[in-house]
Amino acid sequence: MKLAIIGTGYVGLPTGVGFAELGNDVVCVDKIANKIERLNSGELTLFEDGLEDLFRKNVQSGKIRFTLDMQSAVRGADVVMLAVGTPPHPITKEADLQYIYAAAKELAQYLDGYTVVATKSTVPVGTGDEIEKIIREVNHDADFDVVSIPEFLREGFAIHDFFNPDRIVIGTNSERAKEVMLKLYAPFVDKFPLLIVKRRSSETIKYASNAFLAMKIHYINEMADFCEKSGADVLEVAKGMGMDTRIGKKFLNPGPGYGGSCFPKDTNAMAQMGRKYGSPLSLIETTIAKNDERKAKMGQRVIETIKSHPEGKIAVLGLAFKGGTDDCRESPAIDIIKEMVKYSHNVCVFDPKAMENARLILGDSVKYATSIEDACGNADVMVILTEWEDFKHIDLIKIKQKMNRAKIVDLRNMLDADTAVKAGFEYRGVGTNRQ
Ligand code: UDX
Repeated sequence: MKLAIIGTGYVGLPTGVGFAELGNDVVCVDKIANKIERLNSGELTLFEDGLEDLFRKNVQSGKIRFTLDMQSAVRGADVVMLAVGTPPHPITKEADLQYIYAAAKELAQYLDGYTVVATKSTVPVGTGDEIEKIIREVNHDADFDVVSIPEFLREGFAIHDFFNPDRIVIGTNSERAKEVMLKLYAPFVDKFPLLIVKRRSSETIKYASNAFLAMKIHYINEMADFCEKSGADVLEVAKGMGMDTRIGKKFLNPGPGYGGSCFPKDTNAMAQMGRKYGSPLSLIETTIAKNDERKAKMGQRVIETIKSHPEGKIAVLGLAFKGGTDDCRESPAIDIIKEMVKYSHNVCVFDPKAMENARLILGDSVKYATSIEDACGNADVMVILTEWEDFKHIDLIKIKQKMNRAKIVDLRNMLDADTAVKAGFEYRGVGTNRQ
């Protein structure tokens, strides 16, 4: 099939590469000339585990190409996928739909023959109706349907999740569109659950799922606080809870709060929708407020460790919003570092992948290290903020010799507390009471 994908970000690019690998002819459109040039020459513009090989292979075989020209991509396409950003509006926190509406307006002129316009971007309930209206206004004769195919890819696992989805959701009332989408998803049909629902249900499923997961994280974070006070160990509690299949063991890792380009944005947008429809979503509202508070609280937790020697060096390990990605958008690490630098001029940071992106936000408010050892040299406290596998394997005995004081604040529970204590560290995890 012929696919046009509008937007080459964390959703559009892996999705385009995935569909090209399945044998479709894919053209990705973006507005940034330099990005298109780099992509066409075989250079990836973002880091995603497993993406590079598939990307190169499909660029070389011509199954995927990149263009600035919407017309050439849309003409003759069976499916046009919208994968542009829907960032939060700075004041209302609603999803900002200007880019998706602009893309719909632009692509509308070029629709020829029956085309399915499929929204992959996360959009509020009713956006499909609006896109339909926009296209109709621009091109009265267009033969098209708008469907919702929400994207559930996790960053860092986008390729894995593309080929192994928990479910595929298709939101449409049109039989014709359903047929086209079933053809596109044919390689998945017998292997993975596929759900066909009303377009508005499909739009809601994405928000409801992300908000639920965010709530689950908030729940375990609050439970971690409780465990610290009550003498229980949240890791044991989470394990025991997770054995109940109705609860499930995933998303029960306590930490510094959730972040990323999805959960903060989607919880806010969902809460906003609840207000708009006069149906308040109190659990989601609380989750948002408490997650914000948590980052400040965790910043204070670090500052306390160097209160007695304010010139002390804070070594921060981890900047990305989670392990496996270079993305720092809404990263709790960044917010927590901002708390630290209000108090300390001696914060030195390291991340295996996210240094460049972090530098764009933190500028010269911190120092940048070249390795874990470099960051920890002469440090008074080591702070772990992102769940990178590398951090699990730090040689604590060796690193202690390089540090000024043997203190660890592990906000991701990455290290084994007993090993850290045995190595002579004053160790503080999250909800674990093993100082
Ligand atoms: C999320 C959804 O999982 C995905 O389905 C959707 O398509 C996009 O949004 P992503 O933003 O890539 O994916 O990250 P995810 O792995 O869900 O983690 C989000 C945040 O929650 C991260 O900051 C992570 O560190 C945090 N988290 C996750 C926890 O603090 N504890 C957990 O147990 C799980």
